[in-house]
Amino acid sequence: MTLLELAGVEKHFGGLPAVAGVDLKVNEGEILALVGPNGAGKSTLLKAISGLQPPTLGSIKLLGKEIAGLSAHQTRRRGVAMVLQTPRTFHSMTVRENVMIGAMFGSSAGTTSAPSIADRANESLGFVGLTHLADQSVDTLNLHQQRFLELARSLAGRPKLLLLDEVMAGLNDTELRASIDIVRLARDQLGVTVIWVEHVMKAVMSLAERVVVLDFGSLLADGQPADVMRNPKVVAAYLGAEIQTNG
Ligand SMILES: Nc1ncnc2c1ncn2[C@@H]1O[C@H](COP(=O)(O)OP(=O)(O)OP(=O)(O)O)[C@@H](O)[C@H]1O
Ligand SMILES: [Mg+2]
Repeated sequence: MTLLELAGVEKHFGGLPAVAGVDLKVNEGEILALVGPNGAGKSTLLKAISGLQPPTLGSIKLLGKEIAGLSAHQTRRRGVAMVLQTPRTFHSMTVRENVMIGAMFGSSAGTTSAPSIADRANESLGFVGLTHLADQSVDTLNLHQQRFLELARSLAGRPKLLLLDEVMAGLNDTELRASIDIVRLARDQLGVTVIWVEHVMKAVMSLAERVVVLDFGSLLADGQPADVMRNPKVVAAYLGAEIQTNG
């Protein structure tokens, strides 16, 4: 069943469109990696879906209902959660309190009692392996713990669709494997659909079932990881990026 359907999605910031007419269907329960060179429009597309930066044009349907133009708060109520590349925690609060905020503002906002919010926060902390840090201040967490906390906070809101923007950047191999396991478990046990922007190809190849490549705001390829990475157009896009970064 289709969970998300984009049709003609564009985002303009003035000059050239950052996202230039994207059509994409994502099925319920898929783990889809969105990759592409720097500046390709990946973060912009995720922000358009989550409502952080609504699209200039186009339609975004979640379970058949239009969500394009809704605010991030409104899309969260409908089951869309986004984790940004830079962790955004509430300082001077504990780890558990941070996750409780996610439980309060998620898809069942307003219908959940205080004890069940705490229960759900504890459950999500267990899910990401941070139970032992629940009563600590968030300010004591290192980068990977902050990333896992953000995942727990998103999951506590019971999202249908989880949008992850480079949440694995800068992690070592052990942390990378742990975060891959969490995303897979979220899909398998909680039924969450995942769109995941990632530069760490090792992680993409081991977790994604489908890879979509964005280049200059447009879709360049869409398919199984191994096939997409062999696609000459994709190879050329990445080589171009390398030439640019090498000056
Ligand atoms: N708020 C903004 N105002 C103006 N231009 C922006 C804004 N956000 C993004 N852009 C531009 O839109 C284009 C796409 O940017 P975006 O951040 O979506 O790329 P990306 O694929 O996520 O890149 P990266 O891999 O480096 O994170 C870039 O040219 C960028 O400069
Ligand atoms: Mg980005």
